[in-house]
Order: sequence, then structure tokens, then C-alpha cells
Amino acid sequence: MIDDVLKPEERAVFALRSLFSSHGFLPFKMSRFEEYELYARNKDFLVSDSVITFTDTDGKLMALKPDVTLSIIKNARFAPGEKQKLFYNENVYRVSAKTHQFTEIMQSGVECIGNLNDSDKAGMLELALSALGLLGGSFVLSVSHMGLISAAIEEASSLDGFKAVALDCLSGKNLHELAGLCNEFGVEEEKSRLLFTLAGLHGEPEDVLGKLESLPLSAEAKAAAKELAELASMLKGAKGFEKLRFDFSIASDMKYYNGIVFSGFLEGVPEPVLSGGQYDRLLRRMGKKGSALGFAVYLDTLELQSTAEEGKDDGAMLNVALPKGRLGEKIYDMFEKAGYGCPEIRENSRKLIFENSEAGVRYFWVKPSDVAIYVERGAADVGVAGKDILLEYSPDVFELADLKKGKCRMCVAAPKDFVDDGEKTLRAATKFVNIAKKYYSSTGRDIDIIKLNGSIEIAPILGLSDVIVDIVETGTTLKENDLEVKTEILPISARLIANKTSFKFKTEAIETLCDRLEESLEWRVES
Ligand code: PRP
Repeated sequence: MIDDVLKPEERAVFALRSLFSSHGFLPFKMSRFEEYELYARNKDFLVSDSVITFTDTDGKLMALKPDVTLSIIKNARFAPGEKQKLFYNENVYRVSAKTHQFTEIMQSGVECIGNLNDSDKAGMLELALSALGLLGGSFVLSVSHMGLISAAIEEASSLDGFKAVALDCLSGKNLHELAGLCNEFGVEEEKSRLLFTLAGLHGEPEDVLGKLESLPLSAEAKAAAKELAELASMLKGAKGFEKLRFDFSIASDMKYYNGIVFSGFLEGVPEPVLSGGQYDRLLRRMGKKGSALGFAVYLDTLELQSTAEEGKDDGAMLNVALPKGRLGEKIYDMFEKAGYGCPEIRENSRKLIFENSEAGVRYFWVKPSDVAIYVERGAADVGVAGKDILLEYSPDVFELADLKKGKCRMCVAAPKDFVDDGEKTLRAATKFVNIAKKYYSSTGRDIDIIKLNGSIEIAPILGLSDVIVDIVETGTTLKENDLEVKTEILPISARLIANKTSFKFKTEAIETLCDRLEESLEWRVES
């Protein structure tokens, strides 16, 4: 009876609590507040590094907790050779990646700390499978190993500039930029090939393990692959085993995570509902010995499931967000050539949604700068967005291919006679605030950003800014306004992006689309 009045996330809290305690986990309760210093020391471990702070009556800087794991580790007490198993149900307060606002997130999780063996690790994965099973609906648990990923990246290059970008490429399934990066850093062919293979490797444990065997792995990477094989064999026969996948796009911060890392996806929920891993390095940073493995279920994401269920997605169609305008038309031509035509789209109408059920595709025309939002939030499974938009908004999506259309450059431009006076703060007008900030912070230049929404070229003419940071395609707009390119920041082109959950549940359809689009590109280049 009471079940009828509870929301899905509230039902999940009860179910998870009883699951965790039936597996011998003890409840951990913490105060809403924690000393800020704990988070300041471990900022990179947090999902978002913004924390709500206040000064307590004794003058101490306190924080509204953005995370539970750090407090558990801080308080963990276990004798050598033993382990502590704790579960929690807590609200945490952090900036949502989607809304960029502080939100209260209900989180339910477990931590197993101390002397852990393979059977403890397999037990935690089994528990994660059971937790996902309790949430209702179809799910996938994707598992990866930071030991294997770190070894492959370190072998390729130990330079920090390489490692951070390579990890991003891996977690974004971004093979085209990984290729450019390896080239730029002069990585040996065998080592870059290993990274490409890992970036594209995902599937049932047996298949992935088979492929790993044929790769040239270092001793450290081999040990990680062996651990994955052992865990898979221990889990065989466990409830939900058929939902287990190995997938090396699941990657966490190398400073904290050293062993298995995993994420759980529910069909229809656009972001991971569960996330966890082995983080011995965090334990060591906090002056404790031993191992630690935990995961959290993000209960707020279950609200998205109910919205998704009410949506129209029948699961059989591939929903594609296309950028409205000239670029979108060129992109649609590519899709049509690749076998995803929808003749109705060519008719001149103000309709925005078109469908060809035979080809299994449904198109939406959306504003170019909105494509990434539709895809990140799962309203579209895939979409085509400019690299400028992806860099500016950093959506959490896979970047599957460079479609080599809509080529242009992100540039700094200014009036011809402009000379940068290093003594003064530089005033830069732009639509791309984050790109501009990142560029100028890399050059160490102090700037004042003026955010505009269009017709940026006018800003220096009217004395509103010294320079502009904008895209230049043909250069006509600059020329006609007596401006010129002073520096090219980076090349831009259209990219095929995919929602991470959609990729898990529509893998074949999305991979086939990607292959066919890439084939048509190669054909175009050769002919
Ligand atoms: C973009 C950009 C430049 C122009 C560059 O503007 O902001 O103004 O294109 O193209 P060109 O080098 O071929 O002249 P957009 O058309 O998107 O309009 P907006 O200025 O209103 O953003």
C-alpha cells in the first residue's frame, strides 16, 4: 500500500538500505557539515569542486557536504588485516553539471575499506548488479580498470599534458583526437595502437578479455587484465551477470583510482545512475593503509527515468539532433548517402521532426548551439555539433567522429592596427567565454571578458573591446569590418556525438551509423 504513494527514488532508498544491510554493511550517519579543509585538500576527487561554505561560531570554515566518501575515509577505523563495510543514505550538495546551480542530491552508497581481496571486489560488483536490479527497468553495469588504462597511457607518454587529454579522449570514445594527440607527442605506433584499441573496446567480458589477450600489454596492464578475468570468472552465474560489460570508456581520476571502476546505466535515464571504483590512492593521500572500494547510487537520476518513460522513445528508432541551417543540410546529405534518408525532410515546411521508420531514424532540427544539450540529456541519441560548442559547454557525451564538415577556425581577431599593450587588462568580446578564458589563461594574459551573443565583430569597432574571440570561416565578416586574425586558437569542424546511455542500449545502431558515415568520408577523400 505504502509503495503506491512513494516516489521511485524513495522506494529505492528503502530497497537499497535493506539490500546493503543484508550483505553485512553497517549504517554510517554523518552531519550535514564537515570542515571545508577536507574538501579543499581533495578537490579533484569531488564530482564538482564548488562547495557551499560558511564560518562556524568558533571561526572554523565549514562546508555543506558535497560528498560522503571523504568523510567515511576520514573516520574509517579498522585493525590491520580487517575491513570495515559501511552504507549510507545522505543528501549531498553540489553544482549540477547540467544546470550549473547548486542542487541537493540524494545519494545511497556503500564503502568497503581495509584488507580487500578479489572475492570482496567481486562481491561489490555483485552488489552493484543487485542494486541496479532493484531500480526497475533494463540496466547495464560497465566495468573498466584504472590499472590497465593508466599503464597504457603512461607507456605512451608520461607528460601531464598528454595524460589528461588522453584520459578525456578515452572516456569520450574520441579516437580521432586521440590520433592527433599521439601524433603531436610522437607516441610510438604500437603504443598508440594499444590506446586506440582500448578506447574502442567494449562488450561482454569474455569477448573483451579475448581481445585484450592479443594486445601488447605491459606487466602492470597484464596484471589488471588478469584481475578483470578473475572477477569475471567469480561473477559467472551471479544474478545479473548477463548485464555486465567491460568498457574502457569508464575512466576516473588517475590520482585517486587505481583498480576497477564502474558505472551503471538504466535504459531511458540519460546519465549514469550508479558510479564507483577502487580508490586506494585516496586512502594513502589521507594517511591510511589498505584498499577501499565503494559505489554510490544517484537517486535523483531516477526522476529522469519517469520523465523518459513518458516520452515517445520506443527504443527501436535512432533519434538524431541535426543543427538547423546550412551546416545541417550538408550533414543531412551525408546521413542520406549513408542510408539514413528521410525524403520528407527535403520538403519545404516548418516541421521540425521527421521520421523514416524503415531506416529506423527520427530527425529533429534544433538550433546548432542546442544539439549538445539534446544529446547530453538523452532527448536525442546522437547529434552533430560543432567542436566550438563541445569545447565551450563540455557536455558529457561520446564524441564518435569528426565529420569534417563546417570547417572553420577559432581565432583572436582585432583591428589591423591593434597592438597588445601587455600593461593593460585585455578586453575580449566573445560568445565563447570558456574557450577564451582557457586560451588566455594558457598564455598567462590578464583579460576582461565581455560576453556577447552575436555580431561580435562590432565590439572593437565601437571601442567595447580590444579584441574578439570568434569563429572565422571564409574571413569575409572580418574583412568587411576592417579586422584581421591575430592568432588561430584551434581548428573547428562538425562532430558526431552520442548520449552515453543511448550508446549502451543502442550500441549496434549507433556504431553502424558511425561506421557508415566514416566510410562515406573516406570515399569522398579518395574520389
Ligand atoms: C559566425 C561568426 C562570424 C562569422 C564568420 O557568425 O560569429 O561572425 O560567422 O564567418 P566568415 O568568416 O565566413 O565571415 P554567425 O553567422 O554564426 O552569426 P552571429 O555573429 O550572429 O553569431
